[in-house]
This record gives sequence, C-alpha cells and structure tokens, in this order.
Amino acid sequence: KREANRSRERFWEVSGSKMAKITGVTTQEIKEEADARELAGVKEDEGDGDSDPEGNGAHYKKAAKFSDHMKTTSQAASEFSKNNTIQQQRCLLPVFSVREELMDVIRENQIVVVVGETGSGKTTQMTQYLYEEGYGKWGMIGCTQPRRVAAMSVAKRVSEEVGVKLGEEVGYAIRFEDCTGPKTKIKYMTDGVLLRETLKEDDLDRYCAVIMDEAHERSLNTDVLFGILKKIVSRRRDFRLIVTSATLNSKKFSDFFGQVPIFNIPGRTFPVQTIFSKTPVEDYVEAVVKQALAIHLSHPQGDILIFMTGQEEIECCCFALKERLDQLEDAPELSILPMYSQLPADLQAQIFEKAADNVRKCIVSTNIAETSLTVDGILYVVDCGYVKMKVYNPKMGMDALQVFPCSRAGVNQRSGRAGRTGPGTCYRMFTEVAYKSEMLEVNVPEIQRTNLGNVILLLKSLNVEDLLDFDFMDPPPQDNLLKSMFQLWILGALDNTGNLTKLGRKMVQFPLDPPLAKMLLMGHQLGCTSEILTVVSMLSVPPVFFRPTDRQEESDAAREKFFVPESDHLTLLHIYNQWSNNKYRGDWCARHFLHVKILRKAREVRSQMIDIMEQQRLPITSTQLEWDTVRQAICSSYFHHASKLKGIGEYVNCRTGIPCHLHPTSALYGLGYTPDYVVYHELVMTSKEYMQCVTAVDPEWLADYGSIFFTIKETDETKLRTEKKEAIEAAAMEAEMDVFRRQKAEAAKRE
Ligand code: CDP
Ligand code: MG
Repeated sequence: KREANRSRERFWEVSGSKMAKITGVTTQEIKEEADARELAGVKEDEGDGDSDPEGNGAHYKKAAKFSDHMKTTSQAASEFSKNNTIQQQRCLLPVFSVREELMDVIRENQIVVVVGETGSGKTTQMTQYLYEEGYGKWGMIGCTQPRRVAAMSVAKRVSEEVGVKLGEEVGYAIRFEDCTGPKTKIKYMTDGVLLRETLKEDDLDRYCAVIMDEAHERSLNTDVLFGILKKIVSRRRDFRLIVTSATLNSKKFSDFFGQVPIFNIPGRTFPVQTIFSKTPVEDYVEAVVKQALAIHLSHPQGDILIFMTGQEEIECCCFALKERLDQLEDAPELSILPMYSQLPADLQAQIFEKAADNVRKCIVSTNIAETSLTVDGILYVVDCGYVKMKVYNPKMGMDALQVFPCSRAGVNQRSGRAGRTGPGTCYRMFTEVAYKSEMLEVNVPEIQRTNLGNVILLLKSLNVEDLLDFDFMDPPPQDNLLKSMFQLWILGALDNTGNLTKLGRKMVQFPLDPPLAKMLLMGHQLGCTSEILTVVSMLSVPPVFFRPTDRQEESDAAREKFFVPESDHLTLLHIYNQWSNNKYRGDWCARHFLHVKILRKAREVRSQMIDIMEQQRLPITSTQLEWDTVRQAICSSYFHHASKLKGIGEYVNCRTGIPCHLHPTSALYGLGYTPDYVVYHELVMTSKEYMQCVTAVDPEWLADYGSIFFTIKETDETKLRTEKKEAIEAAAMEAEMDVFRRQKAEAAKRE
C-alpha cells in the first residue's frame, strides 16, 4: 500500500507541472472526444451496450446505423448539435474561466476550500476537471452531497456531459442504491455513504480525491467526515481534499484544516431586488400563491422559483395555483413543477427541462433548490421564509422534522437564485423586522441539534473512545452526546463504561438507525430474520399504499384486506409476502392499490440487508407463521416507544406520559380490538400526536426486554427476587467500572 501511495505522490510531483502546460489543449481534445463518446452513448441505448474497441470510426459507423434504424438523419443531426451545446454550456460556466488556476492550487495543496456562487459549476465541473487532469488513474474521484436527490441528479447530468451511461464511468451511490460499476471514476454520493465507507476502508484507498460539496450545509455526516478526512489527509500524502462552500463560512473551514488556501470562483451574478412583506403574513401558503399569480399575470417573462418547506405544502401550493389559473379566463399558460425529495425521479428531472415557447415555468421546491440544485432562467423568487429541519424534540424524545424560520444566510441564498440569468426580484413573505430580529445569522449545525446515535456507534467502532476528544469543527453539546449515548445504552449497544458491546459492534454493520439494526439482530436471536428483514425493509421505504383522491373508499377497502389486527408491522410483512406469492407482479400491486415501485425498492433493500447478514455470518431463519416471535423482536428494540391504553384509541407513552393516538389508518384502529400495550415505530405530529406503525405487545415482553424501564407489579416474593437480582447487577456494574478505571489509570501511567 505504501508503495502504491509513494508512486502516486511521485505522479503529482513529476507530471504535475507538465500537465499544467497542456490543459489548454486537453480541453479541446476532451471536447472532441466527449462528442464522439456521446455518439457511442446513443448507440448504447439501443441495447447491446458493448464498448467500442476499434476507436472512434466505429462509433460513427454504429451511430449511423442506429440513426437509420431509429431516427431520421435530421433528428440525429440535432442530437449531435445538442451534444455540442452541452459542451459549450460547460465552457460558459464561471468555473471554466479559472480552471487552470484552480487545478494549480489543487496540485500544490492537499486541501483546498473552494468558494463560488451557486451555479458556478463547482459540483458538475470540478470532478470532471480532476478526471481530465489524470487524477482518475489512481483511484476514484468522489464527491459528497448532503442530499440524495442532488447526488442522483448531478451524477445524471455529469454522465450526460461526459457522454457515458450513468453507472459506468460516472455513477452515484446513496443508501440502499449503488449505481456504480468497475469502470466508475467519478462517483457522486451522499455524505452518509462515504462515512460508512470509512468503516470498511479507513484510508479510503479507492479514492484519489474527495470533494466535500455543500459543506456550508453542515449536515451531520459532513461534520463527522471533516474530522475523519482531516486524519486521512495527514496519513496519505497523495490524497486531495476539496471542500466547497457557498460564500459563507469559508474562513472557518480553512482554519479548521490548518489555514488551507481558499480559492474563489469569481461570480457572474446580476443584482436582485428584494421586496419584504409590509405586514406580518398569517398564512404563507396563501401569500405565496397570490404573489406567484401576480408575477405571472403582470410581470415580463422569466421563470418563478417558490420556496416552501415540504411535500404537503408544495402539493397544496401547486394545486391552488392551478385551480386559480383555471378559473381565470385566457390567463397565459404556466408550467407548474413541484420539487421535493420523495418525488419520482422522472418528475424531478422536469424542472431542468426547457418549457415550451412562451410558457413560463413555476418551480415549487423545498430547500433543495437553495444551493444543491441550480435551475437556469429563474428571474423571480418567492420565499416563504421557513424551512423544515430535523431537531431533537425533547417532548417526543426523538428527532422530528419541524418548521423553523430560515437563517439570514439561507434567505439571502434563496434570493440569489433570481439573479443567475439577469437582474431579478425576490419577494419575501416576511417583514424586514422579522429578517433583522427573528432570524439567526446562520443555521445551527445539525450536529448540535439532533440525535447522534448513528454517529456515536460509527465513531466508537472507528476506535474513537472519547467522543469529546474527536476533532469536531463545532463539537456537539455534551448534553446531546449523553442523551444519545443513553439511548444506545438502553438498547444494549454500549456497556456501562460507554464502550461498544458485542451487539453494538454488530449493529454498526447495518446502514440503519440503531433500533432497526437491533431488531434485525434480535430476529437472529429469536430465529425469525427472514420476517424481520421484510419488516425492516418495508420501514425503510416510503408508504406502499396508494390512495388516489377519486378512489379513496375503494383503496381504503383494499388496504383493510391486508390488515393483521394486532400489528401494522405484521400488516407490512403480510403485504410483502402476498406480493412475493404473486411472483412480485406489478399488475397485482395495481389491483390492490399498492405502489409497485416502492415495493420493488423494499425488495432491493431486503436483498442488500441479506448480503450484509451473509457477510456477518448470520443465517436467514424463519418462524413460518409463528408471528408472535416477530412481535417480540419488534418489542425488544422499540420498548422505549411503549404506550399504555388510556381511552378508546388513546394511549399514553409509558415513560413520559405524553398522550399519543392510534392513527385512523392503523390496522389496530376501529377493529374493536385495542390492546393494553403497544409499541410504535415513530410519533408524528400533525393535528395530534399520532403513533405511526403500531404493534400490540405483551406486558411481560416489556418487562423482559425493557427491564431497564419496566417491571411487573410485584408480590413480596418477586420483590425479594428483584432486589437480589438488582444487587447482583449493581455489583457487576461496580466491578466493570473498576476494571475500566484501572485500565484508564494504567494507560495514563504509560503515557
Ligand atoms: O455546484 P454549483 O452550484 O456551483 O453549480 P452546478 O450544480 O455545477 O451547476 C452548473 C450548471 O449545470 C448550472 O447551470 C445548472 O443549470 C446545470 N445543471 C443542469 O442543467 N442539470 C443538473 N442536474 C445539474 C446542473
Ligand atoms: Mg453545487
């Protein structure tokens, strides 16, 4: 390994300076080559897909044959010119004008912070530049994104620019979906995926360079990666790390990595006029709709970008816009396009497509269009001023997505989106006073506001013993750390001294939240991994039920047929089994109002989990129809979410006393069967606190698996027994602590 690293280092030193001189030429060559490859790509779509060993001539021949077959010559020609423009577009991006300087700085410095306005080409171009400069010879060029959608959409775009099929030279990886192959040189991925890769390969040897994109977002995984990658850079002199950020924070990043250079991509933006609301806005959805309509009906051409907080609001906003336009006589056409992470990929891609002539586009998006995705042609931004963020909710005792006012940095980013193609306008649905006095300067980084369970498991298994010692840019509040450690401790993942237990070590291997990982391992203990695998997979995908507005009753009836009365988890299991019995058929799903795509996704997740189980030498076991054990496994990992019956459909959380309700869509609802004790997957707050995905459990199981919290009411005899048990446990704990203290003292002495 050392040998390989050294030769890579030499590569930089020796050939680095030579390459700087030929960059001008390479760009042209690359252009031609990419055009040729693009043609080959056209052919590949036809189906036979083999690469071309004979060189470009053959590409053209095959492409011509393809065009004969599929298209008229003129269409093929326009295809070709489209390819040219995609390359021309590349040359028009701001980052292109500083390409050589940028590559020089990267060559001379192991770590560089790159700052540039959104849309300057950081995400799509830098990976390609590195590749074109030859970095790909020594390993992959990775680029991390805090959001799945961004990773997928950018990889797609870059594969088109390079002229290859997505998943070959250019690919992406997100949790449960790996679209890369042996040829992959440019890999986009979520920061979570790279973080998990450091578990398997602590020096990331497969990569020669990593771009940590959107670092200003300060996502939890990015923050942890900062510390890990900083170490890797110090161990591997051949490794390059590039951190990109929107204008803010760059100094902070540079300082963290030891005063590394900051490279600025000169922006080319137009002025944006911002208009605040004069009075506080009561209903921002309504306000946004009105504003967008006013723009559409009375302002000159230019597309509109609306910022909303989440899917429901976005759908509501799109619906209202359409409805009101329909009511107007001869209103000009408006192409209304929603954009959120759960939207199917083909619909997401529509926001980048050009609308028909004289049709205005109106994109209604979550925060994802703030910096992750850039759409050209926006001249108007309408900003509701709020954002959905994951925060730890002490009342629920878990993370929840909640709506908060944006930060000033956030709303300024948003307004900037109006000035990419010409002078624009941003309409803010909040007052200037609110902007100045109610908004924070920047968002609180995720690491300081969410549950750290996953991160703690991961760092512990990377042998970071004392988390307070880890090199965090902004350390999490100690209280957060302790709370999250407590949760891991009650699950049995950490021992009394805060070290990983055997169970904890196994849990880390699964890319799942700790309780789900534990559920799988309990499934192993109880001999029902096959069933638990299905339950876990179904919980890892969006809801499978399809409920079209015009056929609600029919679809509800179809759903009810699958109900297993004591459990929503088992209902999911039942659905999956039925689907499998029906040969995983799509028409069967359609008949039963189930989303086939989502079920397929669950099947994929399941098979990936099976791979991990096999690697861990955990056999696949099944209880057949003995589903009580399945409920026990669920109980053993979710006993912290236990509730006790209080009234009809009404429960209270056993530990916190918070009221929580059965959701009307639950299998347990309205069947005349309400068990005394249930556990739930999560609590969601809409009009009330609803438990989502509920399973009835035996109180004895709670006492067995959750003995940290629960005991069965005691008679004198059992009381004696319990006291004895507690005394033994306390002694064991003391002994454990003793050993730990002694080890620590010895270690200190050695130092
Ligand atoms: O990362 P940064 O914000 O600096 O820019 P980028 O994402 O690399 O975008 C550069 C250009 O690529 C923009 O003009 C986008 O419109 C275009 N792009 C696209 O057309 N389709 C995508 N899926 C992503 C980017
Ligand atoms: Mg970007």
